[in-house]
Amino acid sequence: MAKTGPVGVGIIGAGVISKTYLENLNSFADTRVVAIGDIVTEAAESRAKEFDVPAYGAIDAVLKNDDVEIVVNLTTPAAHVEVATAAILAGKHVWNEKPLSLDRESGGKLLAAAESAGLRVGCAPDTFLGAGLQSARKIIDSGAIGTPLTALVLMQSPGPESWHPNPAFLFQEGAGPLFDIGPYYLTALVQSFGPVASIASLGSKSREQRVIGSGPKAGEKFDVTVPTHVGSLARFESGQSFQSIFSFDSAVRRTLLEINGTEGTLLMPDPNTFAGEIKVRRPAGEDWELLETTTELSSRGTGVLDMARAIREDRPHRAQGALAYHVLDIMVSASESMETSEFVKVQSTVERAEPLPDDWDPKAATV
Ligand SMILES: NC(=O)c1ccc[n+]([C@@H]2O[C@H](COP(=O)([O-])OP(=O)(O)OC[C@H]3O[C@@H](n4cnc5c(N)ncnc54)[C@H](O)[C@@H]3O)[C@@H](O)[C@H]2O)c1
Repeated sequence: MAKTGPVGVGIIGAGVISKTYLENLNSFADTRVVAIGDIVTEAAESRAKEFDVPAYGAIDAVLKNDDVEIVVNLTTPAAHVEVATAAILAGKHVWNEKPLSLDRESGGKLLAAAESAGLRVGCAPDTFLGAGLQSARKIIDSGAIGTPLTALVLMQSPGPESWHPNPAFLFQEGAGPLFDIGPYYLTALVQSFGPVASIASLGSKSREQRVIGSGPKAGEKFDVTVPTHVGSLARFESGQSFQSIFSFDSAVRRTLLEINGTEGTLLMPDPNTFAGEIKVRRPAGEDWELLETTTELSSRGTGVLDMARAIREDRPHRAQGALAYHVLDIMVSASESMETSEFVKVQSTVERAEPLPDDWDPKAATV
């Protein structure tokens, strides 16, 4: 008989973002965090005690736990594939934090392993399931800005080393502004325009080392091994295009996602959030017109919840591994273009996820 009731979740990686996931996944009626593991077992123990998680310890506390149906992998990017593959081998569905993997080959192998085992891979970001981007999508699909033509993306900041207590990974392979923040914007773009066909990028690095700004290691230096400013020009399969800057080298903090259509420009909510204002500017208009102020229904963990319900309902979940793979492919192609100074063809393709139903309620007990 098919299983019913809340879906058991086991978290691997008890660092900074695990707090938000624990708060949210334990607040939904349809998911329950039953175990937490970390390579640093004390980190898992401390989070378990903070959130009343019954089982904790090393990663086997999650992988060998029969109550765990979905492993939520919140490790640092270099460990994403190794931990996710271990989860698949243990017979669990897996939700990965972004990026899916560091390269195409290992990401592809992970998806293939899951498919042959009949298990699911979901992947962050799930911000495209937030009220902000869901409403913006409906506005675009309703023809409010005519035919969407181009998009402009800016994400500029001085970098996260001021606030993250262990920020080195954010400046190394699998991160930097392109791989760390890019997925939010690129996923939102793919949901609005469809898959990306080709991309050209230039990258640069302002400093070889940075200094930790907070926590017990404040003042320690670490190496920066990836570009910290990436400018790109890309074409979608549909023929439309976008330009983007992802930068940790800017004293100015600015985020922007604008979609220009034949009848107007849409100012989207920040795709690294789950809600915000949606505004339009008409060609003859003097100023921005507020179309909608959206309210957050749920935050990180929304994609896990959709996957948990999809498991019980036996339907596809929305934040698919294939979507994350395409976003990874765009970012790897951008990195290759930085080496060759040429446009790189993006090999993979993907279909837009189904929108959430209008009456979608994260707090409801549905399973
Ligand atoms: N911090 C944020 O605001 C934020 C937001 C969204 C997404 N993310 C993503 O979440 C992930 C984790 O980020 P974080 O900021 O929580 O990092 P973190 O460094 O604070 O925590 C990562 C945890 O994973 C553990 N870990 C690493 N390798 C492991 C392995 N092989 N097996 C078991 N445990 C292992 C570490 O011991 C650590 O406790 C990253 O992919 C990041 O991109 C972070």
